[in-house]
Amino acid sequence: MLAMVVAKAKNNVIGKDNQLIWHLPKDLQYFKKLTTGHVIIMGRKTLESLPFLLPNREHWVVTRQADYKPPYEGVRVFHSPEEAVKVAEALEVAYCIGGAQMYESFMPYAETLYVTEIDKEFEGDAHFPTIDLNQFEVVESIAGEVDEKNPWPFSFVTYRRKE
Ligand SMILES: NC(=O)c1ccc[n+]([C@@H]2O[C@H](COP(=O)([O-])OP(=O)(O)OC[C@H]3O[C@@H](n4cnc5c(N)ncnc54)[C@H](OP(=O)(O)O)[C@@H]3O)[C@@H](O)[C@H]2O)c1
Repeated sequence: MLAMVVAKAKNNVIGKDNQLIWHLPKDLQYFKKLTTGHVIIMGRKTLESLPFLLPNREHWVVTRQADYKPPYEGVRVFHSPEEAVKVAEALEVAYCIGGAQMYESFMPYAETLYVTEIDKEFEGDAHFPTIDLNQFEVVESIAGEVDEKNPWPFSFVTYRRKE
């Protein structure tokens, strides 16, 4: 089963200059809890923006480069979203973790979307696609707690593909 995990601003911005814009420790904890022990699938740019491999997760990368050598050992390389989806479908869950191009490509195959919705607009150059509410419904929404380290209102919203 394929799921996607994203943190997005009110205007769907998810990043700028190939980086995340905000620092929300509670969202990082949520991401870690969801994905630990599972496969995470990412675009080549997102892989290369990681300072190191995330512990206890199997990393898959998607690239068009036939001879791509990932910067870290142990990363499984795919050359199309469809190739990765085919393998992911046999797993209990695999999480597409971005970036923008990957979210766009994997959206048609995703069963569940774990979306941290930050209730503020940010300026950026990478966006999450608009979630089609004809196709997905909200099955859970939990308000995050604002504090000095997590300064903007945010919610953990789970969307599931309608039957
Ligand atoms: N807020 C969040 O939750 C979140 C999460 C992740 C990332 N981000 C942000 O998203 C931004 C990066 O997104 P991005 O869209 O620029 O990069 P990306 O999706 O991480 O990677 C794009 C690369 O993936 C490969 N690719 C894309 N479509 C493909 C296809 N159909 N077949 C084969 N390979 C394909 C290409 O690699 P090659 O060029 O090697 O062919 C492409 O250059 C950054 O700002 C990052 O901080 C935000």
